[in-house]
Amino acid sequence: MQNPGAASLALFTREIWANPRAMGAACPSAPLLASRMASHVPLDRDGLVLELGGGTGAVTAALLKHGAPPWKLVVIERSPTLAHHLRQRFPQLRIIQGDAAQLAQLLDDDRSRGVGSIVSSLPLRSLHPTTTRAIAEQFETLLPPGGLLIQYTYDLRGVPLRLLPHFRRRSSRIVWGNLPPARVEVFERE
Ligand SMILES: C[S@@+](CC[C@H](N)C(=O)[O-])C[C@H]1O[C@@H](n2cnc3c(N)ncnc32)[C@H](O)[C@@H]1O
Repeated sequence: MQNPGAASLALFTREIWANPRAMGAACPSAPLLASRMASHVPLDRDGLVLELGGGTGAVTAALLKHGAPPWKLVVIERSPTLAHHLRQRFPQLRIIQGDAAQLAQLLDDDRSRGVGSIVSSLPLRSLHPTTTRAIAEQFETLLPPGGLLIQYTYDLRGVPLRLLPHFRRRSSRIVWGNLPPARVEVFERE
């Protein structure tokens, strides 16, 4: 039987062929990168933890391991195939198939629970600029002042602040142990 890591890699590779710009990476997030992302999520805050671009679930698994309560965690994934995979892998979680550019609409009633943190694997730099702008506007709409956006990028220069005009950078570190190295950044809503 195929092991889960190999199955995730095969699924991820098929999705890259189907939509390279939306995947924005050559392979799923490695456990080290995923756990660094998750480690920035405060567990003592009210509101949802939103994971954007759940993919094959590496960051989702790290968020659960970090202690994010399943009833607070909502995962958004645009690819129907990957959303289906996530629902099978994490039956205890709310997985929403849809475009993060319409995040507020996708959340629907869940929006009233408020959002504490957003953990994003979205390839902000490779998506179409109009989509990236729309996603950044959703971040601004949904996160209250002080709310955190945790984002990684394989561009070691980091995410340009012009993409996130209403956020300040709280931390930015390269995870050298990831292959390829990636930069994990934490932004705070002003
Ligand atoms: C770098 S991959 C995610 C890697 C993921 N952490 C993993 O380990 O598999 C980016 C993910 O974002 C998803 N995505 C891209 N654009 C999106 C959008 N506008 N809304 C929601 N998901 C999107 C892709 O389908 C892909 O699964």
